[in-house]
Amino acid sequence: MVIPESLLEALEKARSITVLTGAGVSAESGIKTFRDPDGLWSQFNPAELASVDGFMSNPELVWQWYQYRRQIINNAMPNAGHYAIAEMEKLFKNFVLVTQNVDRLHQRAGSSKVWELHGNIIDNHCFNCKRPYIGETNLPDKQLPKCPVCGGLIRPSVVWFGELLPFEALSAAEEAAYNCDVFLSVGTSAEVYPAANLPLIAKRSGAFVVEVNPNRTAISHYMDVCLRETSAVALPKLIEEYKKFISD
Ligand code: OAD
Repeated sequence: MVIPESLLEALEKARSITVLTGAGVSAESGIKTFRDPDGLWSQFNPAELASVDGFMSNPELVWQWYQYRRQIINNAMPNAGHYAIAEMEKLFKNFVLVTQNVDRLHQRAGSSKVWELHGNIIDNHCFNCKRPYIGETNLPDKQLPKCPVCGGLIRPSVVWFGELLPFEALSAAEEAAYNCDVFLSVGTSAEVYPAANLPLIAKRSGAFVVEVNPNRTAISHYMDVCLRETSAVALPKLIEEYKKFISD
C-alpha cells in the first residue's frame, strides 16, 4: 500500500483533523464487525437484539447476548490501529475522534477524548428512569438486574436501532466534520445514519476525505483517497510516512 503524497500534504497543512471509526478498527482485536460476511448481523437478528421492542419482548435474550459480547470485549486488547489513532491525537493539534464502537478500545489504547455516538457496552442504566446502574449484573437463577430506585429493568448503555444518538456527542461530531481540513473514515461500512453522514458533511465543507478500509463502501466514491488496507496496517504506516514527510 502506497500512501499518496496528496494525503501527506493535506495532513501537513491541516489545522484540524477528524477521525470517524467503526467496527472494522476493532476487527484485528478479535471483535466481529456487523456487516462483513461473518459479521454479527449475519448470525443474529438486530431487531431482536438491538432495539427497544426486542428488549421489551425478550429482555433475557438481549441480556444473554450483551453479556456474551462483553466477555469477548473484556478479553480483547487494542490493536495497532487503535494505538495509531491515540498517537495521532498527540501528533496533530485540533484532533477529534468520533466512534460508532461501544467497546472502549480507543480509550484503552490511550485516546483521551472519544465521542461515542452509539454509547458503550461497559455501562448500564435503568430502562425506566435512566439512572446509571453500578450494581451486579450476573445474578443467580438467570434473574435480571433491576433498578434499586424505581424497580425498572436495567439495560446496557448502548444506542439501539430507532433510538436517538446522545445529543452532545452527535453535535460535537457534526461540528468536527464541518470544521476539519482532513477527515478519515476508518473501518466503517457507512451504512448507518447519522454517523454515515459525517464524511459527507466534511466533504461538502471542503475537507480532504480519506477512507481506510480493505473493502469498498457506500461512500467510497466521495473520497479523495482510499487506503485499501486494514486499519492496523494502514494507520501505523500513515503515521510513519507522515513523520518522514515532515522531517524532510
Ligand atoms: P460494519 O460491520 O457495518 O462495517 C465494518 C466495516 O469495516 C466494513 O466496511 C469492513 O470492510 C471494514 N473492515 C473489516 N475489517 C477491517 C479492518 N481490519 N480494518 C479496517 N476496516 C475493516 O460496522 P460499522 O460501520 O461500525 O450500531 O456499523 C455501524 C453500526 O451498525 C454499528 O455501530 C452498530 C451496527 O448496527 C448499533 O449497534 C447501533
